[in-house]
Amino acid sequence: GTVAVVGCPFSGGQGKSGVDLGPNALVERGLLSQLSELGWNVHYEGPAEFDDIPYINPNQPGASNGREVLPDPDIGKMKKPRLVSAVNQRAMGIIRDHAMEGRLPLTLGGDHSLAMATVSGIKAKYPDACVVWVDAHADINTPATSDSGNIHGMPISFLLGLPGTDVAPFSDWIKPCLKPSDIVYIGLRDLDVEEKKILRDLGIKCFTMHEVDRLGVGEVVKKALKHVNPKGERPVHLSFDVDACDPSVAGSTGTPVRGGLTFREAHYICEAIAETGCLVGLDIMEVNPALGDDKSVNETVAVGCSLARAALGETLL
Ligand code: ARG
Ligand code: MN
Ligand code: MN
Ligand code: MN
Repeated sequence: GTVAVVGCPFSGGQGKSGVDLGPNALVERGLLSQLSELGWNVHYEGPAEFDDIPYINPNQPGASNGREVLPDPDIGKMKKPRLVSAVNQRAMGIIRDHAMEGRLPLTLGGDHSLAMATVSGIKAKYPDACVVWVDAHADINTPATSDSGNIHGMPISFLLGLPGTDVAPFSDWIKPCLKPSDIVYIGLRDLDVEEKKILRDLGIKCFTMHEVDRLGVGEVVKKALKHVNPKGERPVHLSFDVDACDPSVAGSTGTPVRGGLTFREAHYICEAIAETGCLVGLDIMEVNPALGDDKSVNETVAVGCSLARAALGETLL
């Protein structure tokens, strides 16, 4: 098959600079040739271009040099809403078009607000797709419940169409395309109070680190896939936030949380999803090469590459 690698150098969904350097760090580490060696036909057009979008991204010094920029004041609590919306709308089109051409989009973040684009793009081609979300966080705040105002903590609420998400400019292009039963979480351990309430009220299936500890990762993945894809007939989108991993495994990320997945647990999840043969879309998100020491950056970038390889069929034997 063909994998379309979509680099999304974008940091506007959160407040730390450097996560926009994630895609090139992964590509420069050799991800494209690694995927070729696995037998994939690798389609790569270079990173997506967002610099012409006319809103100031305060995380990118000099981004406004020599061009018209428009102000992007908060909408409610949401920070940089026009920028985040415009970037995601463009990324969605790119990802959707690759999926329509029969390619498997592998999106390299960039911050996790980009899942607005990846899930919307995958759902446009595969309306029956389900989502496996591997993350320390649920990213299900609404613009009203968010404490931080960072939109990388909100993509799922927009995809579900929760109250308060029917707001311009997002409503110009995001269609609520997910039902609560279409998503399963693995690795959660840092939820806001209001997020816990949303998850309980909607009955969304969650395998937190508590369940990983109790059941082991093998049983967790089995139950998670049984929940969203009981007959093994549905297309699966895997959205992997590297902060699901323990900070000792992937420390160079903007919102690390201790007590995360081990190196093997993280890879096992990807390997088990690869084995289903149902994967149609993959995200590797929140790699931030500007955070942490050289060792942490090297390990985090390497883990981003090896998680992608595992999800795309690399086996140990
Ligand atoms: N729940 C917090 C917030 O809404 C943290 C979100 C972290 N998200 C992420 N994609 N790393 O701000
Ligand atoms: Mn996270
Ligand atoms: Mn709160
Ligand atoms: Mn996330």
